[in-house]
Amino acid sequence: MAETTTRTGLPKGFRSAEQGWPALHRIPHPPYRVPLAGDILGASRRTPLQDSLKYARRLGPIFRRNAFGKEFVFTWGAELVADLADESRFAKHVGLGVANLRPVAGDGLFTAYNHEPNWQLAHDVLAPGFSREAMAGYHPMMLAVAERLTDHWDRAAAGGRAVDVPGDMTKLTLETIARTGFGHDFGSFERARPHPFVTAMVGTLTYAQRLNSVPGPLAPVLLRRASRRNAADIGRLNRIVDEVIRVRRAGGGGGGSGDLLDRMLDTAHPETGERLSAENVRRQVITFLVAGHETTSGALSFALHYLAREPEVAARARAEVDRVWGDTAAPGYEQVAKLRYVRRVLDESLRLWPTAPAFAREARADTVLAGEHPMRRGAWTLVLTPMLHRDPSVWGDDAERFDPDRFDARAVRGRAPHVFKPFGTGARACIGRQFALHEATLVLGLLLRRYELRPDPGYRLRVTERLTLMPEGLRLWPERRGGGAGGPSPAQPV
Ligand code: HEM
Repeated sequence: MAETTTRTGLPKGFRSAEQGWPALHRIPHPPYRVPLAGDILGASRRTPLQDSLKYARRLGPIFRRNAFGKEFVFTWGAELVADLADESRFAKHVGLGVANLRPVAGDGLFTAYNHEPNWQLAHDVLAPGFSREAMAGYHPMMLAVAERLTDHWDRAAAGGRAVDVPGDMTKLTLETIARTGFGHDFGSFERARPHPFVTAMVGTLTYAQRLNSVPGPLAPVLLRRASRRNAADIGRLNRIVDEVIRVRRAGGGGGGSGDLLDRMLDTAHPETGERLSAENVRRQVITFLVAGHETTSGALSFALHYLAREPEVAARARAEVDRVWGDTAAPGYEQVAKLRYVRRVLDESLRLWPTAPAFAREARADTVLAGEHPMRRGAWTLVLTPMLHRDPSVWGDDAERFDPDRFDARAVRGRAPHVFKPFGTGARACIGRQFALHEATLVLGLLLRRYELRPDPGYRLRVTERLTLMPEGLRLWPERRGGGAGGPSPAQPV
Protein backbone atom coordinates (compact mmCIF):
# COMPACT_ATOMS: atom_id res chain seq x y z
CA MET A 1 0.00 0.00 0.00
CA ALA A 2 1.13 3.56 -0.62
CA GLU A 3 2.89 5.11 2.33
CA THR A 4 1.59 8.62 2.83
CA THR A 5 2.96 11.27 5.05
CA THR A 6 -0.09 12.93 6.53
CA ARG A 7 -3.40 11.67 7.88
CA THR A 8 -5.19 13.03 4.82
CA GLY A 9 -3.00 10.98 2.57
CA LEU A 10 -1.20 14.00 1.13
CA PRO A 11 2.52 14.66 1.37
CA LYS A 12 3.39 17.20 4.04
CA GLY A 13 2.94 20.84 3.06
CA PHE A 14 0.58 19.79 0.26
CA ARG A 15 -2.66 21.69 0.63
CA SER A 16 -4.73 22.15 -2.46
CA ALA A 17 -5.73 20.54 -5.69
CA GLU A 18 -3.88 23.36 -7.46
CA GLN A 19 -0.63 21.94 -6.10
CA GLY A 20 -1.64 18.33 -6.71
CA TRP A 21 -2.78 18.90 -10.28
CA PRO A 22 -0.22 21.16 -12.00
CA ALA A 23 -2.40 21.50 -15.13
CA LEU A 24 -5.65 22.02 -13.23
CA HIS A 25 -6.61 24.94 -15.50
CA ARG A 26 -7.11 22.45 -18.33
CA ILE A 27 -9.85 20.64 -16.38
CA PRO A 28 -13.27 22.27 -16.95
CA HIS A 29 -15.42 23.60 -14.13
CA PRO A 30 -18.99 24.95 -13.95
CA PRO A 31 -19.55 28.58 -15.00
CA TYR A 32 -20.62 31.29 -12.54
CA ARG A 33 -18.32 30.67 -9.60
CA VAL A 34 -19.31 32.59 -6.49
CA PRO A 35 -16.32 34.25 -4.79
CA LEU A 36 -15.32 32.39 -1.60
CA ALA A 37 -18.25 29.93 -1.84
CA GLY A 38 -17.27 28.37 -5.21
CA ASP A 39 -19.60 26.36 -7.45
CA ILE A 40 -22.64 26.51 -5.23
CA LEU A 41 -25.26 27.92 -7.61
CA GLY A 42 -27.94 25.29 -8.02
CA ALA A 43 -26.10 22.93 -5.66
CA SER A 44 -28.23 20.91 -3.28
CA ARG A 45 -27.12 19.88 0.19
CA ARG A 46 -29.31 16.82 0.04
CA THR A 47 -28.28 15.45 -3.35
CA PRO A 48 -24.58 16.27 -3.89
CA LEU A 49 -23.98 13.15 -5.93
CA GLN A 50 -26.87 13.80 -8.30
CA ASP A 51 -25.63 17.39 -8.66
CA SER A 52 -22.25 16.07 -9.69
CA LEU A 53 -23.93 13.82 -12.25
CA LYS A 54 -25.55 16.90 -13.81
CA TYR A 55 -22.20 18.67 -14.01
CA ALA A 56 -20.59 15.52 -15.40
CA ARG A 57 -23.06 15.45 -18.28
CA ARG A 58 -22.26 19.08 -19.10
CA LEU A 59 -18.52 19.16 -18.47
CA GLY A 60 -17.30 15.77 -19.69
CA PRO A 61 -15.20 12.85 -18.44
CA ILE A 62 -13.08 14.85 -16.00
CA PHE A 63 -14.13 18.08 -14.32
CA ARG A 64 -13.71 19.98 -11.09
CA ARG A 65 -15.89 21.72 -8.58
CA ASN A 66 -14.88 24.34 -6.08
CA ALA A 67 -16.34 24.34 -2.58
CA PHE A 68 -15.31 27.16 -0.27
CA GLY A 69 -11.96 27.68 -1.97
CA LYS A 70 -11.06 24.01 -2.34
CA GLU A 71 -10.94 22.33 -5.73
CA PHE A 72 -12.19 18.76 -6.12
CA VAL A 73 -11.53 16.76 -9.27
CA PHE A 74 -14.19 14.29 -10.46
CA THR A 75 -13.53 11.57 -13.00
CA TRP A 76 -15.85 9.21 -14.85
CA GLY A 77 -14.63 8.64 -18.42
CA ALA A 78 -13.94 4.94 -18.97
CA GLU A 79 -10.37 5.47 -20.18
CA LEU A 80 -9.48 7.66 -17.22
CA VAL A 81 -11.03 5.24 -14.71
CA ALA A 82 -9.20 2.29 -16.31
CA ASP A 83 -5.95 4.19 -15.73
CA LEU A 84 -6.93 4.97 -12.12
CA ALA A 85 -7.48 1.24 -11.59
CA ASP A 86 -3.74 0.66 -12.12
CA GLU A 87 -2.77 -0.38 -8.59
CA SER A 88 0.93 0.17 -9.23
CA ARG A 89 0.32 3.93 -9.65
CA PHE A 90 -2.87 4.63 -7.70
CA ALA A 91 -4.38 3.59 -4.35
CA LYS A 92 -7.56 4.23 -2.39
CA HIS A 93 -7.82 7.74 -1.05
CA VAL A 94 -9.65 8.18 2.24
CA GLY A 95 -11.27 11.55 1.60
CA LEU A 96 -14.52 13.52 1.74
CA GLY A 97 -17.42 11.40 3.01
CA VAL A 98 -15.27 8.38 3.88
CA ALA A 99 -12.85 10.53 5.91
CA ASN A 100 -15.85 12.13 7.65
CA LEU A 101 -16.78 8.67 8.95
CA ARG A 102 -13.46 8.30 10.80
CA PRO A 103 -14.96 9.41 14.14
CA VAL A 104 -17.41 6.50 13.84
CA ALA A 105 -15.35 3.78 12.22
CA GLY A 106 -11.74 4.89 12.87
CA ASP A 107 -9.23 2.47 11.42
CA GLY A 108 -11.94 -0.12 10.69
CA LEU A 109 -11.47 -1.82 7.33
CA PHE A 110 -13.48 0.67 5.24
CA THR A 111 -12.11 3.92 6.68
CA ALA A 112 -8.49 2.88 7.46
CA TYR A 113 -5.73 4.87 5.78
CA ASN A 114 -3.59 2.71 3.54
CA HIS A 115 -0.60 3.07 5.83
CA GLU A 116 -2.40 2.02 9.02
CA PRO A 117 -1.21 -1.44 10.12
CA ASN A 118 -4.70 -2.44 11.23
CA TRP A 119 -5.88 -2.49 7.62
CA GLN A 120 -3.63 -5.41 6.58
CA LEU A 121 -4.12 -7.17 9.90
CA ALA A 122 -7.93 -7.00 9.76
CA HIS A 123 -8.00 -7.79 6.04
CA ASP A 124 -5.97 -10.97 6.51
CA VAL A 125 -7.88 -12.07 9.60
CA LEU A 126 -11.35 -11.40 8.12
CA ALA A 127 -10.95 -12.36 4.44
CA PRO A 128 -11.48 -16.11 5.16
CA GLY A 129 -14.90 -15.08 6.58
CA PHE A 130 -15.89 -14.50 2.93
CA SER A 131 -14.57 -17.75 1.45
CA ARG A 132 -16.84 -20.14 -0.43
CA GLU A 133 -17.09 -22.40 2.61
CA ALA A 134 -18.00 -19.48 4.85
CA MET A 135 -20.63 -18.32 2.38
CA ALA A 136 -22.16 -21.79 2.16
CA GLY A 137 -22.37 -21.74 5.96
CA TYR A 138 -24.26 -18.40 5.94
CA HIS A 139 -26.75 -19.60 3.33
CA PRO A 140 -29.26 -21.33 5.68
CA MET A 141 -29.29 -18.23 7.91
CA MET A 142 -29.96 -16.04 4.88
CA LEU A 143 -32.91 -18.29 4.02
CA ALA A 144 -34.26 -18.07 7.57
CA VAL A 145 -34.14 -14.25 7.52
CA ALA A 146 -35.78 -14.21 4.08
CA GLU A 147 -38.62 -16.23 5.57
CA ARG A 148 -39.28 -13.46 8.06
CA LEU A 149 -39.55 -11.06 5.14
CA THR A 150 -41.96 -13.29 3.22
CA ASP A 151 -44.10 -13.79 6.35
CA HIS A 152 -44.40 -10.03 6.52
CA TRP A 153 -45.13 -9.68 2.79
CA ASP A 154 -47.65 -12.55 2.91
CA ARG A 155 -49.64 -10.59 5.49
CA ALA A 156 -49.46 -7.45 3.33
CA ALA A 157 -50.53 -9.46 0.26
CA ALA A 158 -53.46 -11.04 2.14
CA GLY A 159 -54.63 -7.61 3.28
CA GLY A 160 -54.03 -5.94 -0.13
CA ARG A 161 -51.56 -3.57 1.53
CA ALA A 162 -48.43 -1.97 0.08
CA VAL A 163 -44.97 -2.71 1.48
CA ASP A 164 -42.27 -0.13 2.18
CA VAL A 165 -39.53 -1.59 -0.01
CA PRO A 166 -36.40 0.25 1.26
CA GLY A 167 -37.59 -0.14 4.87
CA ASP A 168 -38.17 -3.88 4.47
CA MET A 169 -34.94 -4.45 2.54
CA THR A 170 -33.07 -2.64 5.32
CA LYS A 171 -34.65 -4.93 7.92
CA LEU A 172 -33.74 -7.96 5.85
CA THR A 173 -30.12 -7.03 5.17
CA LEU A 174 -29.45 -5.81 8.72
CA GLU A 175 -30.80 -9.05 10.17
CA THR A 176 -28.80 -11.06 7.64
CA ILE A 177 -25.40 -9.50 8.42
CA ALA A 178 -26.18 -9.40 12.15
CA ARG A 179 -27.10 -13.04 12.28
CA THR A 180 -24.47 -14.46 9.89
CA GLY A 181 -21.60 -12.26 11.05
CA PHE A 182 -22.33 -11.73 14.72
CA GLY A 183 -24.92 -14.31 15.84
CA HIS A 184 -27.15 -11.41 16.80
CA ASP A 185 -30.87 -10.81 16.29
CA PHE A 186 -32.02 -7.17 16.13
CA GLY A 187 -35.67 -8.25 15.91
CA SER A 188 -36.21 -5.78 13.04
CA PHE A 189 -39.30 -7.51 11.66
CA GLU A 190 -40.99 -7.43 15.04
CA ARG A 191 -40.58 -3.66 15.34
CA ALA A 192 -42.94 -1.00 14.05
CA ARG A 193 -40.06 1.53 13.76
CA PRO A 194 -36.49 1.02 12.54
CA HIS A 195 -34.07 -0.39 15.10
CA PRO A 196 -32.12 2.38 16.93
CA PHE A 197 -28.96 1.03 15.25
CA VAL A 198 -30.44 1.94 11.85
CA THR A 199 -31.63 5.37 13.01
CA ALA A 200 -28.20 6.17 14.46
CA MET A 201 -26.46 4.85 11.35
CA VAL A 202 -28.62 6.96 9.00
CA GLY A 203 -27.84 9.94 11.28
CA THR A 204 -24.07 9.47 11.09
CA LEU A 205 -24.06 8.83 7.33
CA THR A 206 -26.20 11.92 6.71
CA TYR A 207 -23.97 14.02 8.97
CA ALA A 208 -20.82 12.77 7.20
CA GLN A 209 -22.38 13.89 3.91
CA ARG A 210 -23.45 17.28 5.31
CA LEU A 211 -19.94 18.01 6.56
CA ASN A 212 -18.91 18.28 2.90
CA SER A 213 -21.40 21.08 2.33
CA VAL A 214 -19.93 23.62 4.76
CA PRO A 215 -16.45 25.16 4.99
CA GLY A 216 -14.37 22.94 7.32
CA PRO A 217 -13.40 25.58 9.89
CA LEU A 218 -17.02 26.78 10.21
CA ALA A 219 -18.50 23.30 10.64
CA PRO A 220 -18.45 23.40 14.47
CA VAL A 221 -20.51 26.63 14.38
CA LEU A 222 -22.81 25.98 11.42
CA LEU A 223 -23.53 22.38 12.35
CA ARG A 224 -23.50 22.75 16.14
CA ARG A 225 -26.85 21.04 16.73
CA ALA A 226 -26.26 18.41 14.08
CA SER A 227 -22.82 17.72 15.52
CA ARG A 228 -24.31 17.14 18.98
CA ARG A 229 -26.84 14.76 17.47
CA ASN A 230 -24.02 13.02 15.63
CA ALA A 231 -22.06 12.54 18.86
CA ALA A 232 -25.20 11.01 20.40
CA ASP A 233 -25.63 8.73 17.37
CA ILE A 234 -22.01 7.56 17.63
CA GLY A 235 -22.53 6.90 21.34
CA ARG A 236 -25.61 4.82 20.53
CA LEU A 237 -23.78 2.79 17.87
CA ASN A 238 -20.93 2.13 20.31
CA ARG A 239 -23.30 1.01 23.06
CA ILE A 240 -25.18 -1.33 20.73
CA VAL A 241 -22.04 -3.03 19.40
CA ASP A 242 -20.45 -3.18 22.85
CA GLU A 243 -23.48 -5.16 23.97
CA VAL A 244 -23.19 -7.52 20.98
CA ILE A 245 -19.52 -8.10 21.89
CA ARG A 246 -20.28 -8.47 25.62
CA VAL A 247 -22.88 -11.14 24.97
CA ARG A 248 -20.43 -13.11 22.81
CA ARG A 249 -17.66 -12.84 25.40
CA ALA A 250 -20.08 -13.82 28.18
CA GLY A 251 -20.86 -16.94 26.17
CA GLY A 252 -17.21 -17.90 26.64
CA GLY A 253 -15.90 -16.00 23.59
CA GLY A 254 -15.46 -17.95 20.37
CA GLY A 255 -19.02 -19.18 19.93
CA GLY A 256 -17.42 -21.91 17.89
CA SER A 257 -19.32 -20.98 14.74
CA GLY A 258 -16.26 -19.24 13.32
CA ASP A 259 -18.34 -16.24 12.27
CA LEU A 260 -16.89 -12.75 11.72
CA LEU A 261 -17.13 -11.84 15.39
CA ASP A 262 -15.28 -15.00 16.41
CA ARG A 263 -12.58 -14.09 13.91
CA MET A 264 -12.37 -10.55 15.24
CA LEU A 265 -12.11 -11.70 18.86
CA ASP A 266 -10.11 -14.89 18.64
CA THR A 267 -8.17 -15.22 15.43
CA ALA A 268 -4.50 -14.35 15.33
CA HIS A 269 -2.83 -13.27 12.09
CA PRO A 270 -1.57 -16.46 10.42
CA GLU A 271 1.98 -15.11 10.03
CA THR A 272 2.55 -12.47 12.70
CA GLY A 273 0.31 -13.93 15.43
CA GLU A 274 -1.09 -10.42 16.08
CA ARG A 275 -4.72 -9.93 17.15
CA LEU A 276 -7.17 -7.06 16.77
CA SER A 277 -7.33 -4.77 19.81
CA ALA A 278 -10.61 -4.34 21.72
CA GLU A 279 -11.00 -0.82 20.31
CA ASN A 280 -10.40 -2.04 16.78
CA VAL A 281 -12.93 -4.87 17.19
CA ARG A 282 -15.56 -2.27 18.11
CA ARG A 283 -14.67 -0.29 14.94
CA GLN A 284 -14.85 -3.41 12.79
CA VAL A 285 -18.22 -4.49 14.20
CA ILE A 286 -19.71 -1.08 13.39
CA THR A 287 -18.05 -1.12 9.96
CA PHE A 288 -19.38 -4.55 9.04
CA LEU A 289 -22.86 -3.99 10.43
CA VAL A 290 -23.15 -0.75 8.41
CA ALA A 291 -21.24 -1.65 5.22
CA GLY A 292 -22.78 -5.13 5.34
CA HIS A 293 -26.38 -4.02 5.03
CA GLU A 294 -26.92 -0.44 3.86
CA THR A 295 -25.68 -0.82 0.27
CA THR A 296 -27.21 -4.27 -0.26
CA SER A 297 -30.60 -3.02 0.86
CA GLY A 298 -30.38 -0.19 -1.69
CA ALA A 299 -29.33 -2.62 -4.44
CA LEU A 300 -32.29 -4.90 -3.69
CA SER A 301 -34.67 -1.94 -3.59
CA PHE A 302 -33.56 -0.58 -6.98
CA ALA A 303 -33.77 -4.08 -8.50
CA LEU A 304 -37.33 -4.52 -7.17
CA HIS A 305 -38.26 -1.12 -8.57
CA TYR A 306 -37.11 -2.14 -12.04
CA LEU A 307 -38.68 -5.60 -11.80
CA ALA A 308 -42.04 -4.01 -10.93
CA ARG A 309 -41.67 -1.52 -13.79
CA GLU A 310 -40.55 -3.96 -16.47
CA PRO A 311 -43.05 -6.84 -16.65
CA GLU A 312 -41.13 -8.59 -19.44
CA VAL A 313 -37.92 -8.60 -17.43
CA ALA A 314 -39.81 -9.84 -14.37
CA ALA A 315 -41.51 -12.61 -16.39
CA ARG A 316 -38.16 -13.79 -17.77
CA ALA A 317 -36.54 -13.72 -14.33
CA ARG A 318 -39.50 -15.55 -12.77
CA ALA A 319 -39.46 -18.19 -15.49
CA GLU A 320 -35.78 -18.77 -14.74
CA VAL A 321 -36.43 -19.19 -11.03
CA ASP A 322 -39.26 -21.65 -11.70
CA ARG A 323 -37.09 -23.60 -14.14
CA VAL A 324 -33.92 -23.71 -12.02
CA TRP A 325 -35.41 -24.12 -8.57
CA GLY A 326 -38.52 -26.10 -9.53
CA ASP A 327 -40.49 -27.04 -6.42
CA THR A 328 -37.46 -27.03 -4.13
CA ALA A 329 -38.78 -25.31 -1.03
CA ALA A 330 -35.38 -24.28 0.30
CA PRO A 331 -32.98 -23.65 -2.60
CA GLY A 332 -29.46 -24.81 -1.76
CA TYR A 333 -26.31 -22.68 -1.84
CA GLU A 334 -25.30 -23.98 -5.26
CA GLN A 335 -28.70 -23.19 -6.75
CA VAL A 336 -28.34 -19.44 -6.24
CA ALA A 337 -25.47 -18.90 -8.67
CA LYS A 338 -27.52 -20.74 -11.30
CA LEU A 339 -29.96 -17.82 -11.46
CA ARG A 340 -27.98 -16.16 -14.22
CA TYR A 341 -30.71 -13.83 -15.46
CA VAL A 342 -31.72 -12.72 -11.95
CA ARG A 343 -28.06 -11.89 -11.36
CA ARG A 344 -28.08 -9.80 -14.56
CA VAL A 345 -31.07 -7.88 -13.24
CA LEU A 346 -29.05 -7.14 -10.12
CA ASP A 347 -25.95 -6.13 -12.10
CA GLU A 348 -27.99 -3.84 -14.32
CA SER A 349 -29.57 -2.21 -11.24
CA LEU A 350 -26.08 -1.71 -9.78
CA ARG A 351 -24.95 -0.26 -13.10
CA LEU A 352 -27.59 2.47 -13.07
CA TRP A 353 -27.57 2.98 -9.31
CA PRO A 354 -24.35 1.74 -7.73
CA THR A 355 -25.42 2.20 -4.14
CA ALA A 356 -21.92 3.21 -2.96
CA PRO A 357 -21.74 5.74 -5.78
CA ALA A 358 -18.15 7.00 -5.65
CA PHE A 359 -14.67 6.00 -4.60
CA ALA A 360 -11.51 8.08 -4.46
CA ARG A 361 -8.07 7.29 -5.91
CA GLU A 362 -4.77 8.97 -5.15
CA ALA A 363 -1.46 8.96 -7.00
CA ARG A 364 1.23 6.86 -5.26
CA ALA A 365 3.95 8.95 -6.96
CA ASP A 366 4.04 11.81 -9.48
CA THR A 367 2.33 10.52 -12.61
CA VAL A 368 0.26 11.55 -15.62
CA LEU A 369 -3.35 10.38 -15.66
CA ALA A 370 -4.25 8.82 -19.01
CA GLY A 371 -1.20 10.52 -20.55
CA GLU A 372 -2.91 13.91 -20.22
CA HIS A 373 -3.35 15.14 -16.66
CA PRO A 374 -0.22 15.46 -14.52
CA MET A 375 -0.77 14.53 -10.86
CA ARG A 376 1.66 14.94 -8.01
CA ARG A 377 2.07 12.22 -5.42
CA GLY A 378 -0.96 12.28 -3.09
CA ALA A 379 -3.21 14.17 -5.56
CA TRP A 380 -6.58 12.50 -5.75
CA THR A 381 -9.84 12.34 -7.67
CA LEU A 382 -13.31 11.07 -6.97
CA VAL A 383 -14.58 8.44 -9.41
CA LEU A 384 -18.28 8.94 -10.12
CA THR A 385 -19.42 5.37 -10.64
CA PRO A 386 -22.97 6.11 -11.88
CA MET A 387 -21.46 8.19 -14.72
CA LEU A 388 -18.76 5.61 -15.53
CA HIS A 389 -21.68 3.20 -15.84
CA ARG A 390 -23.36 5.55 -18.30
CA ASP A 391 -20.32 6.41 -20.43
CA PRO A 392 -21.84 6.28 -23.93
CA SER A 393 -18.55 5.07 -25.45
CA VAL A 394 -19.03 1.85 -23.44
CA TRP A 395 -22.76 1.53 -22.83
CA GLY A 396 -24.11 3.25 -25.96
CA ASP A 397 -26.48 6.15 -26.41
CA ASP A 398 -29.24 4.30 -24.59
CA ALA A 399 -27.19 3.94 -21.39
CA GLU A 400 -30.14 5.21 -19.31
CA ARG A 401 -32.27 2.27 -20.42
CA PHE A 402 -32.60 -0.68 -18.02
CA ASP A 403 -31.51 -3.75 -19.96
CA PRO A 404 -30.17 -6.80 -18.06
CA ASP A 405 -28.91 -8.33 -21.33
CA ARG A 406 -25.98 -5.91 -21.13
CA PHE A 407 -24.64 -8.48 -18.67
CA ASP A 408 -25.01 -11.64 -20.71
CA ALA A 409 -21.70 -13.45 -20.94
CA ARG A 410 -20.92 -12.44 -24.50
CA ALA A 411 -21.67 -8.76 -23.89
CA VAL A 412 -19.47 -8.78 -20.79
CA ARG A 413 -16.60 -10.44 -22.68
CA GLY A 414 -16.90 -7.80 -25.39
CA ARG A 415 -16.31 -4.91 -23.00
CA ALA A 416 -13.04 -3.54 -21.70
CA PRO A 417 -12.13 -4.28 -18.07
CA HIS A 418 -12.75 -1.62 -15.39
CA VAL A 419 -15.96 -0.24 -16.91
CA PHE A 420 -18.25 -1.73 -14.23
CA LYS A 421 -17.10 -0.87 -10.71
CA PRO A 422 -19.98 -0.98 -8.20
CA PHE A 423 -17.66 -2.64 -5.68
CA GLY A 424 -14.69 -0.29 -6.11
CA THR A 425 -11.28 -1.44 -7.29
CA GLY A 426 -7.97 -2.98 -6.27
CA ALA A 427 -6.79 -4.05 -2.83
CA ARG A 428 -9.41 -1.85 -1.13
CA ALA A 429 -12.35 -3.12 -3.20
CA CYS A 430 -15.37 -4.51 -1.36
CA ILE A 431 -14.57 -7.53 0.81
CA GLY A 432 -18.30 -8.35 1.03
CA ARG A 433 -18.98 -8.49 -2.71
CA GLN A 434 -19.81 -12.23 -2.89
CA PHE A 435 -21.83 -11.98 0.30
CA ALA A 436 -23.93 -9.16 -1.13
CA LEU A 437 -24.41 -10.81 -4.52
CA HIS A 438 -25.38 -14.16 -3.00
CA GLU A 439 -27.80 -12.63 -0.53
CA ALA A 440 -29.42 -10.31 -3.08
CA THR A 441 -29.76 -12.96 -5.81
CA LEU A 442 -31.27 -15.41 -3.33
CA VAL A 443 -33.79 -12.88 -2.05
CA LEU A 444 -34.80 -11.68 -5.53
CA GLY A 445 -35.29 -15.32 -6.55
CA LEU A 446 -37.48 -16.02 -3.51
CA LEU A 447 -39.59 -12.89 -4.00
CA LEU A 448 -40.04 -13.41 -7.73
CA ARG A 449 -41.14 -16.99 -7.21
CA ARG A 450 -43.65 -16.07 -4.54
CA TYR A 451 -45.16 -12.75 -5.69
CA GLU A 452 -46.23 -10.62 -8.58
CA LEU A 453 -45.05 -7.10 -7.80
CA ARG A 454 -47.53 -4.33 -8.52
CA PRO A 455 -46.05 -0.83 -8.73
CA ASP A 456 -47.69 2.45 -7.82
CA PRO A 457 -48.42 3.82 -11.32
CA GLY A 458 -47.85 7.39 -10.10
CA TYR A 459 -44.39 6.70 -8.65
CA ARG A 460 -41.39 8.36 -10.29
CA LEU A 461 -37.99 7.20 -9.09
CA ARG A 462 -36.47 9.64 -6.62
CA VAL A 463 -33.08 8.82 -5.18
CA THR A 464 -32.20 9.83 -1.65
CA GLU A 465 -28.54 10.26 -0.65
CA ARG A 466 -26.75 9.64 2.64
CA LEU A 467 -23.36 8.85 1.12
CA THR A 468 -25.19 5.76 -0.16
CA LEU A 469 -28.15 5.75 -2.57
CA MET A 470 -31.68 4.49 -1.93
CA PRO A 471 -34.97 4.84 -3.83
CA GLU A 472 -37.14 7.20 -1.84
CA GLY A 473 -40.75 6.42 -0.99
CA LEU A 474 -40.80 3.23 -3.04
CA ARG A 475 -43.88 1.10 -2.27
CA LEU A 476 -45.02 -2.04 -4.02
CA TRP A 477 -48.09 -4.23 -3.72
CA PRO A 478 -47.03 -7.88 -3.55
CA GLU A 479 -49.60 -10.44 -4.73
CA ARG A 480 -49.16 -14.13 -4.04
CA ARG A 481 -48.79 -15.96 -7.32
CA GLY A 482 -51.52 -18.36 -8.39
CA GLY A 483 -54.10 -16.77 -6.14
CA GLY A 484 -52.23 -17.55 -2.96
CA ALA A 485 -50.41 -20.77 -3.77
CA GLY A 486 -47.40 -19.46 -5.68
CA GLY A 487 -44.13 -20.51 -4.17
CA PRO A 488 -43.52 -22.41 -1.01
CA SER A 489 -42.18 -20.86 2.15
CA PRO A 490 -38.39 -20.50 1.68
CA ALA A 491 -37.25 -22.33 4.75
CA GLN A 492 -39.71 -25.25 4.62
CA PRO A 493 -37.99 -28.61 4.26
CA VAL A 494 -38.19 -30.13 0.80
C1 HEM B 1 -24.41 -4.20 -3.04
C2 HEM B 1 -23.71 -4.17 -1.92
C3 HEM B 1 -22.38 -3.48 -1.74
C4 HEM B 1 -21.81 -2.48 -2.47
C5 HEM B 1 -22.37 -1.74 -3.70
C6 HEM B 1 -20.51 -2.20 -1.88
C7 HEM B 1 -19.60 -1.27 -2.37
C8 HEM B 1 -18.33 -1.08 -1.85
C9 HEM B 1 -17.33 -0.20 -2.41
C10 HEM B 1 -17.51 0.67 -3.66
C11 HEM B 1 -16.22 -0.30 -1.65
C12 HEM B 1 -14.89 0.45 -1.87
C13 HEM B 1 -14.94 1.82 -1.23
C14 HEM B 1 -13.70 2.66 -1.49
O1 HEM B 1 -12.89 2.37 -2.37
O2 HEM B 1 -13.57 3.68 -0.79
C15 HEM B 1 -16.52 -1.22 -0.57
C16 HEM B 1 -15.64 -1.57 0.44
C17 HEM B 1 -15.99 -2.35 1.52
N1 HEM B 1 -17.16 -3.06 1.68
FE1 HEM B 1 -18.71 -3.13 0.42
N2 HEM B 1 -20.36 -3.03 -0.79
C18 HEM B 1 -21.47 -3.83 -0.68
C19 HEM B 1 -21.69 -4.81 0.27
C20 HEM B 1 -20.87 -5.10 1.32
C21 HEM B 1 -21.08 -6.15 2.32
C22 HEM B 1 -22.25 -7.13 2.28
C23 HEM B 1 -20.06 -6.06 3.22
C24 HEM B 1 -19.78 -6.91 4.43
C25 HEM B 1 -20.42 -8.00 4.74
C26 HEM B 1 -19.19 -4.97 2.79
C27 HEM B 1 -18.05 -4.56 3.45
C28 HEM B 1 -17.12 -3.69 2.90
C29 HEM B 1 -15.86 -3.38 3.56
C30 HEM B 1 -15.41 -3.87 4.94
C31 HEM B 1 -15.14 -2.54 2.68
C32 HEM B 1 -13.75 -1.97 2.89
C33 HEM B 1 -12.75 -2.95 2.29
C34 HEM B 1 -11.30 -2.49 2.45
O3 HEM B 1 -11.01 -1.31 2.31
O4 HEM B 1 -10.46 -3.36 2.67
N3 HEM B 1 -19.71 -4.42 1.64
N4 HEM B 1 -17.80 -1.69 -0.72
